Amino acid sequence: MQNFYSKILLMIIFGLLGQILMGCSIEPKKSVPEKYRIGQISFHRVCAQCHGAYAMGGGARAPTFLQEKFNPKNFPNRRIVRAILNGSDSGSMPSQINKVTDDEIREILKYIRYPQKEVGII
Ligand code: HEC
Repeated sequence: MQNFYSKILLMIIFGLLGQILMGCSIEPKKSVPEKYRIGQISFHRVCAQCHGAYAMGGGARAPTFLQEKFNPKNFPNRRIVRAILNGSDSGSMPSQINKVTDDEIREILKYIRYPQKEVGII
């Protein structure tokens, strides 16, 4: 009988571990051309938990980049960089400065523009 309970306990522990591991990052599901791959990986590691996979927006947490407001004319790359480094003006997005390198920021910018082109915002 004790054996039975320890099995249940183990199952619960592994179940919880799985949940925690899966919850940490959103896996990219859509495959993108090779030159956007690095940006996609960085975006999913750092931004997607709030902004959603494929820059689509994460429900209530953060806006999607697939809207006119974020096309390069209205929201040029330097403003995106500013948001990454300083956080958003309202403060509801925290600075991501410690989570990305300069190279990763460059790749993330490229990656954000790609689905914008696909849906016709650019
Ligand atoms: C912890 C959640 C979170 C993470 C992680 C995050 N963001 Fe944000 N982001 C937000 C929220 C919330 C807003 C809306 C902020 C507002 O309206 O002030 C936002 C807004 C923005 C904006 C618009 C800023 C503005 O002034 O309107 C940009 C650009 C942006 N995020 C880019 C990124 C990029 C690129 C990454 C990854 C490097 C990232 N964010 C990671 C939550 C997040």
